[in-house]
Amino acid sequence: MADGSRRESWASRLGFILAAAGSAVGLGNIWRFPYVVGTNGGAIFVIIYLIIVVLVGYPMMVTESVIGRSSKRNPVGAFKALAPNSLWWIVGALGVLTGFVILSYYSVVGGWSLAYVFRSIGGDFGSDAGEMTNLFLGHVSDAWVPVIWHLVFMGLTVAIIAGGVVKGIQRWVTVLWPVMGLLILVLVIRSVTLEGAGAGLAFFLAPEAPSQGWGRLLIDAIAQSFFTLSLGMGVFITYGSYLSDRDNIPSSAVAVVGLDTGIAILGGLMIFPAVFALGFEADAGVGLTFMTLPAVFATMPLGGLFGTIFFILLSVAALTSAISLLEVVTAWLIDEKGWSRGKSAAVLGAVIFLVGIPSSLGFGPWEGVSIGAIGDTLLDNYDWVANSVLLPLGGLLTAIFAGWIWTAKSAQDEANKAGQGLRLGGWYGPVLKFVLPLAIAFVMIWGIIEHFVS
Ligand code: PFF
Repeated sequence: MADGSRRESWASRLGFILAAAGSAVGLGNIWRFPYVVGTNGGAIFVIIYLIIVVLVGYPMMVTESVIGRSSKRNPVGAFKALAPNSLWWIVGALGVLTGFVILSYYSVVGGWSLAYVFRSIGGDFGSDAGEMTNLFLGHVSDAWVPVIWHLVFMGLTVAIIAGGVVKGIQRWVTVLWPVMGLLILVLVIRSVTLEGAGAGLAFFLAPEAPSQGWGRLLIDAIAQSFFTLSLGMGVFITYGSYLSDRDNIPSSAVAVVGLDTGIAILGGLMIFPAVFALGFEADAGVGLTFMTLPAVFATMPLGGLFGTIFFILLSVAALTSAISLLEVVTAWLIDEKGWSRGKSAAVLGAVIFLVGIPSSLGFGPWEGVSIGAIGDTLLDNYDWVANSVLLPLGGLLTAIFAGWIWTAKSAQDEANKAGQGLRLGGWYGPVLKFVLPLAIAFVMIWGIIEHFVS
């Protein structure tokens, strides 16, 4: 069904905002943001990150959304519609592939999170960080349990996507957003009122020199902004394709970026004060969430309750992101191959689940626990390829396409179509044509060279 006129649209403007912000807010805010802040020395990273979100993240988000709305297609179809008889559709295909890869391991981590809800309820958390590390290593090296939770997580994702844009995605994000908001507020209040929370607040909010140098910090900040805002792989092309011409994209994107950044900051306020107050290390890397935090919870009054709340929050945030990843790939099968929604979602869910199994099993043979952002497991490698290569490459090519081929003027006109509310000003063209491609290319190439040289 390549006919755009029968395409579903969001039932309200809020539908797009909540769905898009649900995509953006995920493991990236609660699991990844705190650990990259931690490994880059705290507040200085937060400041640079905020600048990049405004300078690179926001214009990129608007650009992808207008490509989607203008073409009313999935990423592959969108490039075909805007640049017929050219090879630009490959950029869309790259996005679909990236969604596939990310979801395969994202669902594994989502599964760990679900499992940890029940570990917390079952009273498995203890105050010794070493023991919690062993608990986690034991959990992930089990052949069956994490795979089953990965399956449960993928099953939930498929069930929502099979329901459709309005009755699946929009309905569920509308229910789940208030849950996320409430849970995170409860946890922030708990964390900042612990005795000794000040040291964590200072680490997060008072800038000092970067702990791994400026180069690493810049690379991590741009990679983090792409991952957390779900940019560079067509989520916004796909979600934008369900927008109507009356929706104001520049102001919706402000809301989405604001919600995502707000939740990341709250994530930091939730994690660092507690980690410092209870005497744990903030630079534990990937393990911060699953190894350090259970010990932190076990140390605080009513920790069982707060630990359970935390992992429910993490699971819900992961789910609203996973549905956007699956929607990109599903929309491609529906538009381009004429499959039904239910069949696309189910088949893709099954295939992505299978592809994710090695990531789940690959966590077995860890030596020691010094896992940096780039470790040597399959999941770490997927995470690196996705964040440092695929998402920036997708973003780079999309920006070049929109700025130079489709032209910045067409993109700007599409963005300003709604006629009222926020409008993109004259700054947008130069940013799209020069700032985005140069910044992304520079950081991507630097990151790749550094990865292989060091
Ligand atoms: N933005 C999500 C997060 O922060 O966890 C992850 C993500 C979702 C990345 C969708 C990319 C994407 F297309």
